[in-house]
Amino acid sequence: MKGIVLAGGTGSRLFPLTKITNKHLLPIYDKPMIYYPIQTLVDAGIKDILLVTGGRNSGDFLRLLANGKEFGLAHLNYTYQEGEGGIADALALAEHFADGDKICVILGDNILEKSVKDAVEAFKRQDRGARILLKEVEDAERFGVAEMDGDRIVSIEEKPKKPKSNYAVTGIYMYDGTVFDKVKKLVPSGRGELEITDVNNAYIREGTMTYSYVDGWWTDAGTFESLLRATNLVAQSASPEQRKKAAED
Ligand code: G1P
Repeated sequence: MKGIVLAGGTGSRLFPLTKITNKHLLPIYDKPMIYYPIQTLVDAGIKDILLVTGGRNSGDFLRLLANGKEFGLAHLNYTYQEGEGGIADALALAEHFADGDKICVILGDNILEKSVKDAVEAFKRQDRGARILLKEVEDAERFGVAEMDGDRIVSIEEKPKKPKSNYAVTGIYMYDGTVFDKVKKLVPSGRGELEITDVNNAYIREGTMTYSYVDGWWTDAGTFESLLRATNLVAQSASPEQRKKAAED
């Protein structure tokens, strides 16, 4: 399976932190944000990775990550998103890279405590369709929210005012090769973007969507509150040796 990290966008909710840099280059405890989703893919056994970025700071990713040696990679792939078309628009740029294979997509501001390897392995065994990762949260209205009927997802609503469950759809998505045809059929949402939630709903309508639950904590980091929470969660999970080293450096 191939991995795709989406790291574009304006990061407008973090302005002025993002006035002169890309959100995914901001620090989370002792590393730039983008390190965490890359590590999540690598830990799940995914070594063939494409980074989608854009804007004025795209060159900084190349300088920071180079060929991914710090992650034990021999090579990293990069592509450039022009404009701000949303998550699904960024994903469309990965069609050539995916080349019909199954993919695991992770949003560049999603940080997890534990491995997603089990979910990735389950998706490898899945014939076709998609698999998403759910996490029970208290502020579901900030996310895509799964409407459940028993243990089946019947739909996903993007940032609903009145969430139909407490299950947030996290920014880790696994898709089969048909995802790009689904993206091509999307129409822009109210906020003028191609929504990943609409891609997921296409799989739900087709009856091929499955899900796993996130093990351990999960957070995004795209707002001041969640950026702080991410930093605190990572710092608390760091080993005493890592904390000592961070204090010394
Ligand atoms: C995006 C998705 C949303 C998902 C979230 C996870 O929201 O649109 O469905 O729950 O990522 O981090 P955004 O952070 O772009 O507002």
